[in-house]
Amino acid sequence: MQNNVRSVILGTGAGIPPKTLTNSDLTKIVDTTDEWIQERTGMQVRHIIDEKFQNSDLASEAARRALQASGTTAEELDTIVVATVTGDTTFPSTACYVQEKIGAVNAAAFDIQAACSGFIFGLGIADGLIGTEQSRKVLVIGSEVLTRIVDWEDRATCVLFGDAAGAAVVGPSNGDGSGILGTFMKTDGRMAHLLCMPGGGTKYPAQVAVDENLNNIKMQGPEVFKAAVTAMGDAATHILEKTGLTADDVSLLIPHQANKRIIDATARRMKLPAEKVYVNLQNYGNTSSASIPVALTEAKEKGLLKKGDVCVIVAFGGGLTWGSAAIRI
Ligand code: ACO
Repeated sequence: MQNNVRSVILGTGAGIPPKTLTNSDLTKIVDTTDEWIQERTGMQVRHIIDEKFQNSDLASEAARRALQASGTTAEELDTIVVATVTGDTTFPSTACYVQEKIGAVNAAAFDIQAACSGFIFGLGIADGLIGTEQSRKVLVIGSEVLTRIVDWEDRATCVLFGDAAGAAVVGPSNGDGSGILGTFMKTDGRMAHLLCMPGGGTKYPAQVAVDENLNNIKMQGPEVFKAAVTAMGDAATHILEKTGLTADDVSLLIPHQANKRIIDATARRMKLPAEKVYVNLQNYGNTSSASIPVALTEAKEKGLLKKGDVCVIVAFGGGLTWGSAAIRI
């Protein structure tokens, strides 16, 4: 089916847990230093969800803010897509809990799993549903509680991740030229082992996972780093080619916030100056699928995205997955 209707992001919102964990806090948990973390990643602070809350609570907070920003009621939503690797339960989907919590009684709701690329994959689905007139209002959420699946004894991973949610309400454009100009998604399952949580599924059920310490994030950092630099650069250049844009047309690049060095390499490949690249990982760490919608919300609040501007979003993550989208504000 061909897209007939262009879709547009009508409003975004974020849900950030108030409790923080600084680099200095981490030095009391594992053998690390503030200098190492800042130099190797750029991170300073992450946010951690309180134990009485779940992923769906964070996701619902972001959703309510996005609904308000877009002037949409929960009843108007006909689809909810939650991108997450840290859902409340194996099933039903976290999207079902969000639907109940925000009162989106008319929406079909489901999760997708594309790790840190999840928000972009969700946006691609929303764009397709709206473009083919199967949906009118789609809520796309990236929401993660990664601090509950990190190995707090593994200094190479536990310093990297934080909890957050970001959401966007997507609907049909009013024909003024704004909207999603294109999306791109890619996966290479041959690299699945580089970044995964092996336990907790049917291969290593919960008890086996606990007994064999498989119920947490396993990452081959340097290999992921190399793959990420290539994938992020490829995804960014691909979306420009696909939409007929050049780097000069881009007002702001919002990359997935995994590592400042990966972001810098992506910007270099696109020949973009630092002021056109949004970076907030110093305040949140890597929040996987939430990082882009949170950054998008902040960038809008700071007035960095004006009417007519082109914003490119680009991500990579476990799978390995990667993707990008070009959006005219
Ligand atoms: N503090 C101090 N030293 C550390 C720490 C730490 N927190 N972590 C690792 N080290 C040490 C290592 O043990 C190693 O020591 P050695 O040389 O004595 O063996 C040394 O630092 C270098 O380790 P490397 O892993 O080679 O460090 P690198 O420069 O590659 O940085 C990092 C590690 C930050 C993890 C980097 O590889 C990276 O960012 N990779 C990509 C990670 C990423 O983006 N993941 C995405 C996840 S998204 C998702 O889908 C959930």
